[in-house]
Amino acid sequence: MPRRRKRDLIIKGFSKLLKEDKLKIVAQLMDKQVESIELMKSFWHTDHKVQKIFDEFSENTISNFYIPYGVAPNVVINGKAHLVPLVIEESSVVAAASSSAKFWSEHGGFHSEVVDVVKIGQVHFIWKGDKEKLLSVFDELTAAFRRATAHITENMEKRGGGILDFELVDMTDKIEDYYQIKVSFNTVDSMGANFINSCLEEFAGELKSFFRNHHVFKGKEKDCLVVMSILSNYTPDCVVRTWVECSVEELNGIDNDLSGEEFAEKFRMAVKIAEVDEYRATTHNKGIFNGIDAVAIATGNDFRAIEAAGHTYASRTGKYKSLSTAEIHDGRFKFSLELPLAIGTVGGLTNLHPLAKKSLEMLGNPSAKKLMMIASAVGLANNFAAVKSLVTKGIQIGHMKMHLFNILNHLQASDEEKKRAEEYFLGHKISFANVNDYISKLRKP
Ligand code: MEV
Repeated sequence: MPRRRKRDLIIKGFSKLLKEDKLKIVAQLMDKQVESIELMKSFWHTDHKVQKIFDEFSENTISNFYIPYGVAPNVVINGKAHLVPLVIEESSVVAAASSSAKFWSEHGGFHSEVVDVVKIGQVHFIWKGDKEKLLSVFDELTAAFRRATAHITENMEKRGGGILDFELVDMTDKIEDYYQIKVSFNTVDSMGANFINSCLEEFAGELKSFFRNHHVFKGKEKDCLVVMSILSNYTPDCVVRTWVECSVEELNGIDNDLSGEEFAEKFRMAVKIAEVDEYRATTHNKGIFNGIDAVAIATGNDFRAIEAAGHTYASRTGKYKSLSTAEIHDGRFKFSLELPLAIGTVGGLTNLHPLAKKSLEMLGNPSAKKLMMIASAVGLANNFAAVKSLVTKGIQIGHMKMHLFNILNHLQASDEEKKRAEEYFLGHKISFANVNDYISKLRKP
């Protein structure tokens, strides 16, 4: 088949084509089309039923994209040990989480508490009239909201959740005539996005009908407009707090060149820098999300939502800052992380993705609150490992070993070649050219 040219790339009705035909079109953009199709197909699941599940998660699927599924052992949280599943492509994240978890398992483990689990949804609307009129019907309106969503909230209420509260928010100082109805929810063990959005769309319908039919708004139909209704991914009241602590003395031996006290001071300074400088804070927080996202993906949770909330929370004082803090008081070192984590252990992908289900089983089928503690402990573990490396030997040593293996795999090195390369590159600079050179020499007869 000829290579597809850029101007032929507008394809009408692509979604209606068979998967095989979509694949053929896509392969026209690749080198070696026949081999490309074979390669993409080799990642299809051999069990058609399983493949169908994956195809139905999304749209226009042509293959599956594998990401390594690793495990961090020895994650002790509030006295209980866990094996935590981590799905991540970045080399060294699992190793970093594991070594940190092991260190802290010998120094009291992670301590964690869920502060609260409130989630937020908003109906955004315009009202050009008197605010008092809105206030005069607000109780009537929210009662109508509750009636209209009784069929949706019944099950959630049985599980201990549901709608918590309604608030009329006057935003007219920001945008003329703009108001919100801000609704708080408890979605118990589910992430709750579908539940919240379903409720909000009912509320929006009720609000429109109030504007049309309620005597207070008679003749004012043109003065009101429901703009949209949607959950907020910012959940500053769905927060978990996790920390590790030990005496400064216990940190003796953590590094060959620094005493426990020197290490603690340098570590505290590194975290302080991430509190005052947003360039460093962004990377510092990225290190936290290395662990949290990996747990989120392994358990079928929405890591984009988690990150969005985390970064907004990091800016809640008006300045973007590190999500973790370090302190030394009376000879004790304490390293803490506080962040919003709107995650679930029922519903959505958590039950549909066969591996997400297994991840949750591995964790003992935790409640959402428990999973908040687990994910944040792994985030703190990764953050600790990263900052520890940065203030001691640097991160490149650990990264380079993984980098070496990536290059060796790319060069299809045998186990024997990998073993010899690992020894050789302990004392030599790792780069693609150097590794390629070394392997080529090894392979010369
Ligand atoms: C790399 O994925 C993450 C780090 O850059 C985090 C940090 O610098 O704190 C190591």
